[in-house]
Amino acid sequence: MAQTPVKVTVTGAAGQIGYALLFRIASGQLLGADVPVTLSLLEVPQAVKAAEGTAMELDDCAFPLLRGIEITDDPNVAFNGTNVALLVGAMPRKAGMERGDLLEANGGIFGPQGKAINDHAADDIRVLVVGNPANTNALIAQQHAPDVPAERFTAMTRLDHNRALSQLAAKLGVAVADIKKMTIWGNHSATQYPDLFHTEVGGKIAAEQVDESWLRDTFIPTVAKRGAAIIDARGASSAASAANAAIDHVHDWVNGTEWTSAAIVSDGSYGVPEGLISSFPVASRGGRWEIIQGLEIDAFSRERIDASVRELEEERDAVRKLGLI
Ligand code: NAD
Ligand code: LMR
Repeated sequence: MAQTPVKVTVTGAAGQIGYALLFRIASGQLLGADVPVTLSLLEVPQAVKAAEGTAMELDDCAFPLLRGIEITDDPNVAFNGTNVALLVGAMPRKAGMERGDLLEANGGIFGPQGKAINDHAADDIRVLVVGNPANTNALIAQQHAPDVPAERFTAMTRLDHNRALSQLAAKLGVAVADIKKMTIWGNHSATQYPDLFHTEVGGKIAAEQVDESWLRDTFIPTVAKRGAAIIDARGASSAASAANAAIDHVHDWVNGTEWTSAAIVSDGSYGVPEGLISSFPVASRGGRWEIIQGLEIDAFSRERIDASVRELEEERDAVRKLGLI
């Protein structure tokens, strides 16, 4: 019997991440090489024409799995019956800004989109927020969707996770595939904490294979500030690597993984206040993220996790003040 296509909605479809993302979704890399998809492209009215151009190119690829494309500026249409929502549409930061500086400009986008998801999406909806500040935008969307299980709202720290893998692989002269149990904790911001105390390379803890000064003064800041370094070098924020991380996140959420990093709604684990959308070490089983439990957190890690979580609380309080939640 023919399989019903999965509806994937991408907001900001005419933007630079959108352009790097849509073709990979349509080719089967998001959900699997045997899963047909329909795409819904949500844009602001002035960018609908550009989205139509991207849709023409998608047509021209003749992807066997792509069963339809819809283009709209109405969230109620875009999220109608959606199974997977990738909330990318938002302003990127410019040189000299921190991601949190975008809260006021972008926060307002995510309440109405959360409500449209609440009212129209399919029962199995999964949401990944990419637009910055991603964790707090995800919180805003989630708070506007009281009928959707909170766990379906997630934010992207997979790009940070992948950056950490590459930095460590280069330092130790190993392949990325040789590194296990990498973890990003906290916010997708300069306070994030890439943790090498649980990461394993060749069966041994990674933190014991590098100098403490490299870990503290090079590795952590290089990963945490990589977004700014890309903006400085490219004159635009990361796009293909962000799209790649979004593919990885949703692919693993749907198809399962034993260990990665994702920002998900806290259940209070590891002292992260319940309800905050914070990055944790996670597994995905049966299509659900689970926080990996039982890790010992030493004083070095505790201090850094707490600092990033404090920033998430401050962002939550700021959006409360702005009336966004
Ligand atoms: P871009 O400016 O190229 O594209 C953004 C698109 O969003 C534009 O086409 C714009 O018209 C659209 N848009 C704006 N408001 C919208 C709305 N209400 N509904 C639908 N579409 C809307 O930006 P980009 O480079 O694609 O980046 C998008 C966002 O992703 C930025 O906020 C950026 O900071 C963020 N980002 C996050 C990560 C991460 O790891 N979480 C990584 C890279 C970029
Ligand atoms: C990134 O990490 O590359 C993105 O969040 C873009 C940015 O502003 O850093």
